[in-house]
Amino acid sequence: MAHLNDCLSYRTGRLYVESVAAERIAREAGTPTYVYSARLIREKFQELDSALGNLPHLICYALKANPNRSLCRLLAKEGAGADVVSGGELRQAIDAGIRPGKIVFAGVGKTEDEIILALRSGIRMLNVESQEELEAVTRLAKRVKRPALFAVRVNPGVDAGTHRHVATGLPDSKFGVVPAEALRMYRQARTNPWLKAVGIHCHIGSQITRVQPYQQALDSVLKLASKLRSEGQHLKYLDLGGGLGICHDQEEPLPIPAFARMLRRELAAWPGLELVLEPGRFLVAEAGIILTRVLYRKRTSRAHLVIVDVGMNDLLRPALYGAKHPVIPGHSPQRPKIRLNVAGPVCESADMFARGEKLPWPKPRELWAILKAGAYAFSMSSQYNSRPRPPEVLVEGRNFRLIRAREQFEDLVRHER
Ligand code: LLP
Repeated sequence: MAHLNDCLSYRTGRLYVESVAAERIAREAGTPTYVYSARLIREKFQELDSALGNLPHLICYALKANPNRSLCRLLAKEGAGADVVSGGELRQAIDAGIRPGKIVFAGVGKTEDEIILALRSGIRMLNVESQEELEAVTRLAKRVKRPALFAVRVNPGVDAGTHRHVATGLPDSKFGVVPAEALRMYRQARTNPWLKAVGIHCHIGSQITRVQPYQQALDSVLKLASKLRSEGQHLKYLDLGGGLGICHDQEEPLPIPAFARMLRRELAAWPGLELVLEPGRFLVAEAGIILTRVLYRKRTSRAHLVIVDVGMNDLLRPALYGAKHPVIPGHSPQRPKIRLNVAGPVCESADMFARGEKLPWPKPRELWAILKAGAYAFSMSSQYNSRPRPPEVLVEGRNFRLIRAREQFEDLVRHER
């Protein structure tokens, strides 16, 4: 079956994550439950790291994909830095053992408190997204007496060919500034003792599956870096953002060897420049699944419908982006199949995980899995419909452990007065 790999497989007809039977995890942790394969996360990190070879680089894991401390720790041990977009993520990254010198901080709306936290922590660079933000950074750097290391986030006006909700490099995007404005910001910083330009940043979108938009973005950013160099301003870091696309459903993933070849070729003329990449989805999406049980089966006038216990509050991507996440049975995948709709329990018609997919008609309480749920699943989850969030489990070889407990009723009402 497509979408399976050596960390997710059927053995004698039963679904396994690494060497642990999915049914065993479901029995102990209940359902729904997020389950991640440690091995696959390590393999993805190493795939990218080794493709970049001896090109000076740092892979900064984008915490927004999944900020669980155990996953951050695992990646930190591999050598990852972090890309954060809030004070909360910054604290989570440091807490997980990622050195501040390996952390970059983007975001169009950083608050004063967040900027101060970043300055005091001594992060690698603040990726500044507007002239007004640069002024705030200057003021706060002076206040806390810590010169601000920064990059300007440039919007190169590149169409990454991706869903409009996750494209960030288009001309009308809220992210970054146009190259001409970035140039003004770098020039202005030169004479300011509280500002130190150390890098240049861009991020053109998410789930990008072609090399060409990256090449275009890189051309634009290097043009600006050349201009700065000719004016005597030498940068240390070129941060090309994240967005490395995976095979979600049918599409081809970003070809990592060709992507890395392009980067090595283009950056050969820039020996002093360290490349920073900020992948989130690429590192963790495929390592994660959600275990869910079938609650009820029924027929509508048009379709066979299966109701499962995972809802759009646990996995928002299908409802928000029309994203397809493969749904597979927890055992006996070879049974006869019929076309099914699969829906969650939330009171919204958008709470659907499959429409007309060929799947076996399940038994009541049967275990199923929704795939590619390691990224932007837990991190975008909510308690909508007063549903406590599911737990998270990390599998390593023959072992598994809870890395976040299931929320309880008390967690729903804890902050109410
Ligand atoms: N760096 C910056 C500045 C970003 O804005 C993002 C993602 C990343 C890195 C990581 O992108 P990735 O490598 O994961 O594609 N919720 C959406 C994705 C939103 C991505 C937002 N920014 C989804 O579920 O598809």
